[in-house]
Amino acid sequence: MVQVVNVKNTGLRGVTVADTKISFIDGEKGVLIYRGYRIEELAEHSTFMEVAYLLLHGSLPGRKEIEEFEKQVREARGLPEYMCESFRKWPKDAKPMDVLQASVPLLAMSDPDLFNEGRDANVRMALRLIARLPAVAAAWQRIRNGLEPLPPDRALSHAANFLWQLHGKKPDEEAARYLDICLILHADHTFNASTFACREVVSTRAHMYAGVAAGIGALSGSLHGGANAEVMKMLLELEAEKDVPGWVSARLEKGERIMGMGHAVYKTMDPRAKYLKQMAKRLGEKTGKKWQDLSSQVEKAGLEEFRRRGKPEIQPNVDFYSAPVYHMMGIPRDLMTPIFAISRVSGWCSHIIEEKFAEAQEKPALYRPQAEYVGNYCGLMGCEYEPMQQRGQQASEIFG
Ligand code: ACO
Repeated sequence: MVQVVNVKNTGLRGVTVADTKISFIDGEKGVLIYRGYRIEELAEHSTFMEVAYLLLHGSLPGRKEIEEFEKQVREARGLPEYMCESFRKWPKDAKPMDVLQASVPLLAMSDPDLFNEGRDANVRMALRLIARLPAVAAAWQRIRNGLEPLPPDRALSHAANFLWQLHGKKPDEEAARYLDICLILHADHTFNASTFACREVVSTRAHMYAGVAAGIGALSGSLHGGANAEVMKMLLELEAEKDVPGWVSARLEKGERIMGMGHAVYKTMDPRAKYLKQMAKRLGEKTGKKWQDLSSQVEKAGLEEFRRRGKPEIQPNVDFYSAPVYHMMGIPRDLMTPIFAISRVSGWCSHIIEEKFAEAQEKPALYRPQAEYVGNYCGLMGCEYEPMQQRGQQASEIFG
């Protein structure tokens, strides 16, 4: 017997819906762990490929395992030719997140494992998605600018190859490493909106690609992954602003949000933001650009203003400093959220596999919440249908 719990309009905050072994957040202390490992340790010492392996398989790879995994990802990087043919016909002003989302079912169409319900088949599909989403983002950036997509370079690491396919220039080691760290930091985050969307979709036994397409859609929103592009918009607007605290205060006064600040789980600074803040500082020193200074001014003004308003828990989240970091790396504003997606796909796929193959006692059920009906209701058995000829000119004459 299911006990009815009313949590309406809470966005399910504080509601536990499943078990997971993939990641853990301590929102009070500002801690994020992937499969038992703190993200700071992973960002310092590992690579995105290692982290993707860790998330998918549950343990860190040995040397042979990571070599094999990386080899498979490098070999899977190419896009089927029909995809680029199709992209060339798409409107050039299509948003990269829409292109990324639309490309997922296109990729599904030629995946030989699509209807293989085995765990290994799902891991192979995950690997192909991790390999190919960066290629989609890079191909779209080139095609919309009238350029030909570039073939992947198997000699390059995951992050370096993406930058090569995007810019047509081999990146220096430091730039590739910075991007790799960004990918590590964005790889997973428990039951956030997009991961929940993925898990909800595959709880119906839909395939992995259907789940990932839903995840990309959910990530695109400005309250979730889309916030990084909004942060950059805000920083660009503020470039010539002399009174940053005044701007922040006026914005809050109007009831608008400071993008990149606040979080549904963290009540202190997001640990990923701490790391990205340092990276923004190093990149600022290297490139001579002052975006980190401007971000720090907004952060300081925001913290003061939120404290004054009795909301000290509203602090920078991952998107606050990833935006200036990507900007200083030469990433266009509307490609910032796709970069989030090309990292998070590793977490989404791991959650999809967990959702599909959890052990019997932890097996989640088909998600099926309920809503309270507050619409029209005429009588005990509902409204009596009136054929068109008996209705007035407008239905509103009947329903008001
Ligand atoms: N600026 C202004 N006010 C804020 C902000 C903010 N950045 N964040 C929260 N608040 C206020 C809300 O207006 C609300 O005020 P009210 O109670 O007076 O109505 C209160 O704090 C609670 O906000 P909610 O959205 O109801 O709940 P939550 O704390 O869970 O919000 C959220 C989390 C949606 C991320 C919010 O902080 C926000 O909108 N931030 C800006 C967008 C953003 O950066 N999103 C990325 C999040 S990280 C990620 O998804 C990758």
